[in-house]
Amino acid sequence: MSETTLKLPSDQDHSGRDLGREEIELLSEVIASGVLNSTKGTKVERFEKEFAALHGSKHGVALASGTAAIHAAIVAVNPDPMDEIITSPITDMGAIAPIIYQGCVPVFADTDPYTYNVTAESIEKKITKKTRAVIVTHLFGNPCRMREIMALAGKNHLAVIEDCAQAYLAEYEGRKAGTIGDIGVFSLQQGKHMTTGEGGIAITDNADHARRLRLFVNKAWGYGDKNPDHYFLALNYRLTELQGAVALAQLKKLPSVVSRRQAAAKKLDARLRSIDGIKIPAPPADSTHVYWKYCLDVDPEILGFDVAELAAQLKNFGIASAPRYIQKPAFRCQVIKDGVTFGRNHFPLSEEMMRGYQDEGWCRREYPGAYQALSRVLVLPWNEFYEETHVRYIADKIHESVSLLSAVKIKS
Ligand SMILES: Cc1ncc(COP(=O)(O)O)c(C=O)c1O
Repeated sequence: MSETTLKLPSDQDHSGRDLGREEIELLSEVIASGVLNSTKGTKVERFEKEFAALHGSKHGVALASGTAAIHAAIVAVNPDPMDEIITSPITDMGAIAPIIYQGCVPVFADTDPYTYNVTAESIEKKITKKTRAVIVTHLFGNPCRMREIMALAGKNHLAVIEDCAQAYLAEYEGRKAGTIGDIGVFSLQQGKHMTTGEGGIAITDNADHARRLRLFVNKAWGYGDKNPDHYFLALNYRLTELQGAVALAQLKKLPSVVSRRQAAAKKLDARLRSIDGIKIPAPPADSTHVYWKYCLDVDPEILGFDVAELAAQLKNFGIASAPRYIQKPAFRCQVIKDGVTFGRNHFPLSEEMMRGYQDEGWCRREYPGAYQALSRVLVLPWNEFYEETHVRYIADKIHESVSLLSAVKIKS
């Protein structure tokens, strides 16, 4: 590592997490009350109400993780086994595994090569008679084109789940991410805009969906009902009061976290705009990007070097970027490609589907957008504590890395 490296605030520790007195005060209240369980306490319930209110949503249900939130949202929609749910091949496995756990078939729509998001056009190609729902991921904090997606879903009677794990308070046509589809889900994991270490929350305006979400988190036990029972197959996905306390404090800080990230991103935009072969994020005028991460499109044809070489050079300057994000589309992971699901049975994945995903050539032809995106994306860490010096440092080191790598290419 170079001697002149600047340590960047990181969401992996206190340097880049806004955790302090406010969280401790609320945590102390929980400890003093002796009630750590959300079915008896008040903090999780308050968090659910305040989170929903911030979004202008009628209902909020907190859960143990973003994965649990996706799972509960699928259960709320109530698909039959073997129904198909269309999703993105560039997302976290936590957004896909619940589809399979619920006995449904994940079907992947291609992504736009520059926004990394699924589109109405790519979703439409994958709709069949078995399609029940679509999960759209607003990747890196940049909303999908929801107008077209909602029109398509309406025409085909599909439920829409918005995965906002990376897109807190992002807006599309003046509406907040998570409030456009039927259900919006969020993750409270360590590296998100707000965190409780692990955790999640789902929001909806639909009372039936809210009821099923709530029940699914509670083993489908009808708390508060006259004659409660375990109404259907469900799990314990509850958030604890300790997490609820932290979530409440974090929620107060969320708008400021988002605007600080946006302001820092604007500064980096200005410093990187001029590099031939590198594209900065370009959210359309009707959307706001909330910069979970700051991504660059690195064109190897123009630059003469690729995204991995640029990332290796940046590492020398202490900048830990993620070239190619998840490295390969989700369907190329063993769980899906080889159908490693339940015992030795591949349920609910078919042999034919697996054969397709095992054939790299077929995958590349079927998903050109996702392959291009993953071959060129450089994911820069992003944080609300980035000051002018951090942004300038990142920009300078990117310029310096491009010059160094270009000089090496010219020589060889
Ligand atoms: C887009 C997306 N969806 C879902 C998840 C799963 O959330 P969790 O890790 O809280 O289970 C994540 C990641 O954490 C994510 O980034």
